[in-house]
Amino acid sequence: MSDPAPNDDATPPAEGLARLKSSLEARLKALVKSGPTTPRHLREAVRHALLAPSKRVRPMMVHLVAAGEDYLHLPALDAGCAVEMVHTASLILDDLPCMDDAKTRRQRPTTHIVFGEATAILAAIALLNRAFGVIAELDDLSPSIRTQLAEQLSGAVGWEGLVSGQELDLRGTEGVDPAKIERLNWLKTGVLFVAAAEMGATIRGLAPAQTRAVRSFATHLGQAFQTADDLLDVSATAAQAGKDVGQDLGKTTIVSLLGQDLARQRCREHLASADRALAETSLEPQPFRTLIGKFFGSLGTEST
Ligand code: IPE
Ligand code: IPE
Ligand code: MG
Ligand code: MG
Ligand code: MG
Repeated sequence: MSDPAPNDDATPPAEGLARLKSSLEARLKALVKSGPTTPRHLREAVRHALLAPSKRVRPMMVHLVAAGEDYLHLPALDAGCAVEMVHTASLILDDLPCMDDAKTRRQRPTTHIVFGEATAILAAIALLNRAFGVIAELDDLSPSIRTQLAEQLSGAVGWEGLVSGQELDLRGTEGVDPAKIERLNWLKTGVLFVAAAEMGATIRGLAPAQTRAVRSFATHLGQAFQTADDLLDVSATAAQAGKDVGQDLGKTTIVSLLGQDLARQRCREHLASADRALAETSLEPQPFRTLIGKFFGSLGTEST
């Protein structure tokens, strides 16, 4: 691995974030270069899903916690890419006809629409698998840190995390009270946010109290994020969202349960709690606030 590249200290946050995002996207591209045995169709399906326009919130979170935005830290970039691969795999599967049956994702036709269902499933498996290979290859980190990162990511995606959240979401068995819906949102979305933040904390070597604050920050952010996504589903156009909307019709979400206004208020409360936890982490808060403002600002849900 090459040395991390230093950045200009005077860079304002939004510019620093844009540079971080393009560095992450360059690493993503490099990390999914496949060999001569990979069928072209499968390789193209992986690239179609992974390299499409995305906010890259989770890998940005890994890097911001691990190393901030003023300095590109290669292990943090690559650990972020591993999280992004898992997230992208979850999106490919989430869009399948047997799940949400979506036609558009990240401003493109969904992977199964372009490449067929079987290849879409295989692309998701390839990405999930590659994510753990990327963590194993983080040579600049000690074996024990790499093991911790693998545990954190695998815990988030597995049957105690995202996969269970998706199962509960599909079966619609979580009942109709906000606490149960937030439990579902925690599994579906929150656990991966927390894993991203925790992986960053592990790379940075944060003390346990700070790591707890980082977890709390990411927990509230994950709740706010899924609620905002559910608001988008009822209020945005497909062109604005870059994906199908109206998908949650007939599903119980915080929005269908409480209505848009109360859902927005709940989203704001989670953002305020996230910000309070952020202040206890000892991390420089501004890049996180800028990142959060970019996404939530358009929904009118900022906490400030
Ligand atoms: C979409 O995630 C799925 C949810 C958990 C709400 P993002 O809104 O982060 O989607 P991308 O990665 O930017 O496409
Ligand atoms: C899915 O939530 C969260 C995942 C784990 C992929 P949604 O089904 O609401 O996500 P979108 O709206 O399709 O991105
Ligand atoms: Mg879904
Ligand atoms: Mg969906
Ligand atoms: Mg949604």
